Amino acid sequence: MSIISDDNKFTGDSAQKDSKKHSDFHKNPVIKAESIECDKNFENSIRPKSFDAYIGQSALKETLKITIAAAKKRELPLDHLLFYGPPGLGKTTLAGVIAEQMGVNIRITSAPALERPRDIIGILMSLKGGEILFIDEIHRLNKVAEEILYPAMEDFFLDMTTGKSQTVKTLRVPLPKFTLIGATTKAGELSGPLRDRFGIIHRLEFYTEDELAQVITRTAGILNIEITSEGAHAIARRSRGTPRIANRLVKRVSDFALVKHDGKITEDVANESLDILKIDNYGLDCTDRNLLKLIIEKYDGGPVGVETIAAAIGEDVRTIEDVCEPFLLQAGLLQRTPRGRKVSPAAYRHLGYKDIDINEQKSLFQ
Ligand code: ADE
Repeated sequence: MSIISDDNKFTGDSAQKDSKKHSDFHKNPVIKAESIECDKNFENSIRPKSFDAYIGQSALKETLKITIAAAKKRELPLDHLLFYGPPGLGKTTLAGVIAEQMGVNIRITSAPALERPRDIIGILMSLKGGEILFIDEIHRLNKVAEEILYPAMEDFFLDMTTGKSQTVKTLRVPLPKFTLIGATTKAGELSGPLRDRFGIIHRLEFYTEDELAQVITRTAGILNIEITSEGAHAIARRSRGTPRIANRLVKRVSDFALVKHDGKITEDVANESLDILKIDNYGLDCTDRNLLKLIIEKYDGGPVGVETIAAAIGEDVRTIEDVCEPFLLQAGLLQRTPRGRKVSPAAYRHLGYKDIDINEQKSLFQ
C-alpha cells in the first residue's frame, strides 16, 4: 500500500529527529488534540497498520473487519465510510488501517484544500480502481465541491460542463470505483444529501484508561522509552480519553524522566512531570481551567454564549467547540444549553470552590 498525502500524513519519519522540535514546549505547556504540523511526523511514525495493533474502538473494528472481508469476497471496493467524533481519536489512523487491510492506496486530503472545483476534480480523476480517498474535516466542503462529489460517490461519474451559455454541454466522465472515507468532528454540520451517500456512518468514542495505557505502552516500546504499567496508567488518566494527547504526553514525560531522573517513566515521575506541565487529574490544562473559571467567576456559572467565552479567554470559537468542549461535556464539567454554556457542580468541586458556591450553583441547575 502506498500513501499519497496532501498534508504529510502517513509519511514516515524518525520520531527522535522530531523530538527536538518540541524543545520550546515548556514555555507553553498546552497539549491539545488538534493536529499541530510538527507533530504529524511523530504521529505517522507510530501509527498502527493493522486492526490488531489498533487499540480501542472494538465495536467499530469488528464491523469494519466484516465489511472488508465481504468487499474482498465480492471483489468490490468498500462502501463509502464516514467517521465522526472529537479530534485525536484515530479517524485518519483507522482509514490507513483500512487501506492496508484492503491492500489499496489511500489519498489523504482535507476539505479546506478542496476550495476550487478543479481541486476535487483533479483528485477524483487521479484515483485508480479500488483506491481510498480520505477527506478530513469533510463538514467544511463547499457546496460546489459537494455537488461534484454526489454523482462521483453514487454512480462513479463526474458531471462536467463545457462551453458557454447557449452552447453549454454536460459531459458524463466515468471514474474508477473508489471508496470515500470522510472524517468530521461535526457530523451535524454535514448536509443531509452528503451524509446519505455514506454506507457506513460511525462515531469514534473516547478511550478508557486501560485502552490509553495500552496505546502509551505501545508508543513507548516503539520509541525505546522504559515505562512501568503504573507510569502508563498515570499518563492515561490525564490524557482526556484521547490517544493523540496520550502519545504527546509520553514524549513530554519521557523528556522529563531523562533530564530529571534515570529515563524510566514510573508513576511518580509521570505525576511529577504532568504537574509541572499543569495538566491536572482530569487531564485539563490551563485553557480548560480558564474557560471554566471564567464562566464561574464572571458569569455566575452561566449560561453564557461561546463567542463571549472565546473573546474573553483569547481563543477562537472553533478551537473551543472542537477541541476544548467535547471532553469537558463528556466529563460532565460543562453543559451546552440553548442559552449558552453552563458549568456543572462537579466543575466547581474540581476547581476547589467552596460548598456554598456549589449549593448556589445546584439551585441554578434545578
Ligand atoms: N495511536 C493512536 N491511536 C492509536 C490506537 N487506536 N491504537 C494504537 N496506537 C494508536
